[in-house]
Amino acid sequence: MKTVLSGIRATGRLHFGSYLGAVKHFVDFQNNTDTTCLYFVADFHTLTTLDKPDDLKLNLVEIVKDYLAAGLDPEKSIIYAQSSIPEIATLSMYLGMIQSFGELTRIPTYKDLVRRNPDRVTHGLFSYPVLMAADILGPKADVVPVGADQIPNVELARNLAISFNDRYGQTFNVPEMVQDMVKVPGLDGGKMGKSDSANAIGITMSKESILSAYQKHGVTDVNRFKISIPGDPFHGCKSVYPVHEIVTPDEVSSRELAKKCQSASIGCVECKRLLVENIWEVLGPFQEQRKYFSDKDLMVKEILHEGGKKARSRIIPTIAEVADKMGIVVY
Ligand code: TRP
Repeated sequence: MKTVLSGIRATGRLHFGSYLGAVKHFVDFQNNTDTTCLYFVADFHTLTTLDKPDDLKLNLVEIVKDYLAAGLDPEKSIIYAQSSIPEIATLSMYLGMIQSFGELTRIPTYKDLVRRNPDRVTHGLFSYPVLMAADILGPKADVVPVGADQIPNVELARNLAISFNDRYGQTFNVPEMVQDMVKVPGLDGGKMGKSDSANAIGITMSKESILSAYQKHGVTDVNRFKISIPGDPFHGCKSVYPVHEIVTPDEVSSRELAKKCQSASIGCVECKRLLVENIWEVLGPFQEQRKYFSDKDLMVKEILHEGGKKARSRIIPTIAEVADKMGIVVY
């Protein structure tokens, strides 16, 4: 039985990219009988960039509703908020004692923020990956599905597990990282970010507004300024064909579209329309489900409470073991 664990920050509502790239995979893992899955909202981590308390409170509950509507089932998966387990902060503190400063300075997201927005570089942001290691190592996760941007953080968690085990004896699993989460490009072809809503397809958007977003902002091959010019779906088209490859049900039909684009027998407007049809095949049923949960705040809070208790009971023994191995005796 493998333990699968992953988290999402509550910086905003989920978008189609996080739904398809992450949450769908969470559901697949959950429905594999050989796994115990822990999925949480990383509300502590959110504090590194979000300083609107009301937004954080709202986002947390709404994201859990999205999880439930996407098919995560509290009977099968442990769904919780990071903050329900204050011991994660304790574990992060212990791990921080053996984490080298230098390795943290080499984390790309950290380096990037130092360059872009030095005012936001807090102690919490610097030690972000150590807190993340506590999330992962606390419940002794075996598998951590994450997007490409999180790879260095999971790598650091693996290194921490190895160096703790070396120093204090076998304690932590060295988690496997699963990197098959697809990355869905945003409307301009760049990253579909929660905080950058102009570039994102929101999972609550209507079919009409998704279509109008693609028709207005979707970026296709710029060299194909006339419908009679053959397009280059693979290298030229930024945000329409690449999404077809992900959502269009079978590979054959997306390849056929590519051929039509290359032979100028389909135009971008039509290609976008087809794309939105296929997106809607996924989002339509999701939105139906999501409606059911829209006023179920109480239910969500209970799920989080119960999930928190379950996750906590997995983490507390790890902390006791870690403290003991490090020589801390609690009198
Ligand atoms: N840092 C992750 C993100 O921004 C969220 C996260 C926090 C996480 N703790 C984690 C992901 C532990 C996987 C495992 O998406």
